Amino acid sequence: MDKILIHGGHPLSGSIKISGSKNSALPILAATLLTREPCILRRVPDLSDTHYMLQILMHLGAQVERASGTVSVTAEKVESIAPYEVVRKMRASVCVLGPLLGRCKEATVSMPGGCIIGDRPIDLHLKGFEALGAAVRVEGGNVKVFAPKLVGAVINLRGKFGPTVLGTDNVMMAAVLAEGTTVIEGAAQEPEVVDLANFLNKMGAKIEGAGTRRLIIEGVAELHGAEHDIIPDRIEAGTFLVAGAICGNGITIKRVVPEHVKAVTSALSSCGFRIESTPDTITVSPNGAAKPLELATEPYPGFPTDMQAQMCALLSTTPGISVITENVFPQRYMHVAELKRMGAQVQLEGATAIIQGVDHLLGAPVMASDLRASAALVLAGLKAKGTTEVGRVYHIDRGYEHLDEKLSELGAHIERVKN
Ligand code: EPU
Repeated sequence: MDKILIHGGHPLSGSIKISGSKNSALPILAATLLTREPCILRRVPDLSDTHYMLQILMHLGAQVERASGTVSVTAEKVESIAPYEVVRKMRASVCVLGPLLGRCKEATVSMPGGCIIGDRPIDLHLKGFEALGAAVRVEGGNVKVFAPKLVGAVINLRGKFGPTVLGTDNVMMAAVLAEGTTVIEGAAQEPEVVDLANFLNKMGAKIEGAGTRRLIIEGVAELHGAEHDIIPDRIEAGTFLVAGAICGNGITIKRVVPEHVKAVTSALSSCGFRIESTPDTITVSPNGAAKPLELATEPYPGFPTDMQAQMCALLSTTPGISVITENVFPQRYMHVAELKRMGAQVQLEGATAIIQGVDHLLGAPVMASDLRASAALVLAGLKAKGTTEVGRVYHIDRGYEHLDEKLSELGAHIERVKN
């Protein structure tokens, strides 16, 4: 298994370009199953998760071509069964359920398990399918949904922890081909949901309200092929902004939508960093002593759970006491034990982390546990004294396109050791 070695203490400067969004690309790739015509997607990031999704599409019968960031998918005929061997590697494979149900009126997909960031149920996805008239059965580790026809309905998708992103995507993808009008209340407002709705509308769907809590979907008889550019990855952007804050002399990220990362730039401003934006770039630079922070993760437009671990890394060496509360995945703190091995002082109280900033971290061998936790360890390594060795790098490769190369362009001393 590959490792990443980071020799800490080398300040970052310069600029890098943000890649296409993983969490937009995955459901949009799944949405290509809704039509028999070719779809062309640009800026699909080169990640193991997008590769898994393409494998799933091919397994389901689609023809796929990929040339650098451009992917073309033609799903002239589709199978409606995605077995465990094909979907087990990635939880987001669950988002083929909606398009398969929409197009074939039935789908069988292996049920996703829990994952390291906590229990990850799909009850809200299934509730949405049932409201559209589908029957749901869970047997032999598979979830089977089927309906003689789908009929529009009013559905509230808000759960105990707020709205569901992939649940909103899934129900929207089934509803575009239902008879009549569907109203999704308590919809997720994330930019990735808006990107999917924009793509579906280009395919001939009639969706209004994307980006608000209420989606109105007028069903159509069929969809056609479309072309689409995936939006920039706001979590990759946020991760680089935190890298610049942790250890930068001023870095600029390009090809970003500043509005999408506002919660992160506001948090960094509150910590005392200088943020300067143009319509598609953001520069973060030091501006005197950094200050501690109190923040809580929330669904968009709140502070993203996918940036919580990286903020923990930053606040670990910010003087004073910072407090983070994780409201979306309350158990998402696997990075804390590893950061402590580097000298961080963090105390967990339920879903709250109390962080006493230390003067410096010390490099150590640490283990990545999930995508964002791994990114946090790399960021901590940039600042730490000595060498940090991050194992299980495949977690990083799931969701960051060439993270080590981009950091190296900014001046980090970072290398990948192949095993
Ligand atoms: N939830 C339920 N029932 C459901 C679905 C979700 O109770 O049926 C709960 C979850 O357990 C969680 C909350 O609702 O407490 C929100 O989960 P959500 O469904 O929104 O998460 P998701 O759609 O499975 C996506 C991203 C995650 C990101 C979350 C929250 C993709 C592929 N994944 O997951 O991204 O953390 O939204 O923003 O879009 C990552 O990229 O590292 C990542 C984990």
